Amino acid sequence: MSDSQNELSPEHQVEAARKAFEQEFERFARFTAGDLEAAVTEERALADLRTRHLGKKSALAATKKLIGRVAPEGRAAFGQLVQSTEAALVQSLDQAEQSLKDYIQNERTARESIDVTLPGRRPRFGHRHPITLLREKLEDVFVALGYAIEDDREIETDFYNFTALNIPENHPARGWQDTFYTTDGFALRSQTSTVQIHAMQRRGVPVRMIAPGRVFRRDTPDPTHNPMFFQVEGLCVDRGITMAHLKGTVAEFLRRMFGPDTVTRFRPSYFPFTEPSAEFDFSCFKCKGSGCRICKNSGWIELGGSGMVHPNVLRTVGVDPQEYSGFAFGLGIDRMCALMYELDDIRLLFENDVRFLGQFE
Ligand code: FA5
Repeated sequence: MSDSQNELSPEHQVEAARKAFEQEFERFARFTAGDLEAAVTEERALADLRTRHLGKKSALAATKKLIGRVAPEGRAAFGQLVQSTEAALVQSLDQAEQSLKDYIQNERTARESIDVTLPGRRPRFGHRHPITLLREKLEDVFVALGYAIEDDREIETDFYNFTALNIPENHPARGWQDTFYTTDGFALRSQTSTVQIHAMQRRGVPVRMIAPGRVFRRDTPDPTHNPMFFQVEGLCVDRGITMAHLKGTVAEFLRRMFGPDTVTRFRPSYFPFTEPSAEFDFSCFKCKGSGCRICKNSGWIELGGSGMVHPNVLRTVGVDPQEYSGFAFGLGIDRMCALMYELDDIRLLFENDVRFLGQFE
């Protein structure tokens, strides 16, 4: 309390406390709630106001201590003045508080209430990604041909990614510029051929399996390349397996994928883990070989690599190449998907744009 206030008579001090309250309270009396958040803030401010003007340290509380000092003949009247002033303040505060509380309560109820007559919001059904759809189709074809489906790790040791696949020490594929490595020297597999090794170690021979999965290469993204893409590997090892089995299997697979008229052709090629090796193409499913935009007017579509499993690969997994032989093949699922859906750019498959993906339901 300031010196000048101390000089005021007790009655004037009560009056001053009332005026100070009314000044601050004015805005609450005028408050017309318009939004819930503002009303909640006002409710808190009102509680502070109550503490300041009616609390133990308030100016009004100080006037109560003056009752004893008032002359006996005026004491009862002064006591009543303090009490009635306090009651008036309490009443104003209670009223304002109640109307804020009512408003907040009504607003919250309105927000939370459900209008059962409104039409419901249907949850949108998701669907499989086009690559998953194609992978499942490939799996169905090979399961029908008696193949098992293998799944394996995406992070590999040097041994599985290169050495066991007969890839020599100085081969460029081992370099940092072609393969992604983790900081502790593991390679992100650059082809699903790694699963050939795991499958033969796990299952022994004879074996017939396909392994669809994700692979990684340091390729710069462009319409036909991504640094992460999908391949499917195929492996068949048994006694007496020849190149004829490879050609028959790939041709049958492509007929089941693209129709009974599909023609397959093999071109000599080189892969360290197959000998001999061949790349395979199939007759364009769109123009049936006469030439169109999809096959770049050649009539043929390149699809993947293949060959007879190299004896060194068989030896690495403890299989005698004198007794067993086998074929393997691998192809890129993303590019096949792009062909089938006539996409100009395989990067579309990983942009996660629902307007694009929604077309494959
Ligand atoms: C291989 O990866 C061999 N492992 C295939 C193989 C398996 C040969 C078994 C012999 C025996 P290649 O590097 O050509 O081969 O890749 C195979 C397919 O992967 C390509 O035909 C292509 O469709 C796809 N491909 C390769 N690089 C990319 C890329 N950056 N983005 C998308 N697809 C790719």
